[in-house]
Amino acid sequence: MSHSLDNQVVVITGASSGLGEATARHLAGHGATIVLGARRLERMQSIVSDIEADGGRALAVATDVTDRQQVQHLVDTAVAEYGRVDVMLNNAGLMQQSALDKLKIDEWDNMIDINIKGTLYGIAAVLPQMQKQESGHVINVSSVAGHKVTPAGTVYCATKYAVRAISEGLRQEVKDYNLRTTIISPGAIDTELPSHITDAEASEAINGFYESAAIPADSFARAVYFAVSQPGDVDINEILYRPTAQPL
Ligand SMILES: NC(=O)c1ccc[n+]([C@@H]2O[C@H](COP(=O)([O-])OP(=O)(O)OC[C@H]3O[C@@H](n4cnc5c(N)ncnc54)[C@H](OP(=O)(O)O)[C@@H]3O)[C@@H](O)[C@H]2O)c1
Repeated sequence: MSHSLDNQVVVITGASSGLGEATARHLAGHGATIVLGARRLERMQSIVSDIEADGGRALAVATDVTDRQQVQHLVDTAVAEYGRVDVMLNNAGLMQQSALDKLKIDEWDNMIDINIKGTLYGIAAVLPQMQKQESGHVINVSSVAGHKVTPAGTVYCATKYAVRAISEGLRQEVKDYNLRTTIISPGAIDTELPSHITDAEASEAINGFYESAAIPADSFARAVYFAVSQPGDVDINEILYRPTAQPL
């Protein structure tokens, strides 16, 4: 039986849980070959086993996106194994909310390193290959937080605004290489994301909000599928979506 994404090779960072995991499973179900990158290799290997048991093709590569060599290794492995990269989903991310005067500067650094530099390293790793192919699709994950700044969300929001700026610059620069670029900005989705907040006040506020409003991660996977399954001359540049119950 043929599927709509047969022969498409998709690299996903942050594929060990949440949005990345849901997308790996969903796109594999549509025939794509998935190369999963994140730090928790065992988690990814069990996702690979599930995909293979369903007749799909996938591979996990331990990757810390704050290390550009490791991100390059992830992409190089995809090319060595499968010959090309059709979609690069720069999804790995960290959200650690706190007011600026709490001075959680290590957390600011981590969010900048993972959310901004990790996205840039993903672009750097894949761009030469996509230029050679004269085709490809880079999808970067921003957020509603990339459209609105909230108290205690300042640095996280800044990283997600940066992802949108980087993506729009990329969009304008890669026309000569026939590349597509998409920004996906979800609202509250039920994943491990809020579990990394160490500030008690911010954690209580965010977790309460997620409990009341968050929707499942397959909403994101369907948005990715919508973007990647368009005809080659259609470039879905930005998708912003929220749970219906989310007011902000
Ligand atoms: N959930 C939401 O409400 C929501 C809303 C808007 C945007 N987003 C964005 O969606 C993306 C995915 O988040 P999620 O909601 O799916 O949360 P999640 O379940 O916490 O997943 C985050 C993923 O990023 C990976 N990651 C974190 N640090 C990494 C590093 N240094 N190197 C490689 N991978 C790393 C994690 O894997 P390892 O720990 O195994 O490395 C995990 O796979 C993030 O960019 C987030 O900002 C989420």
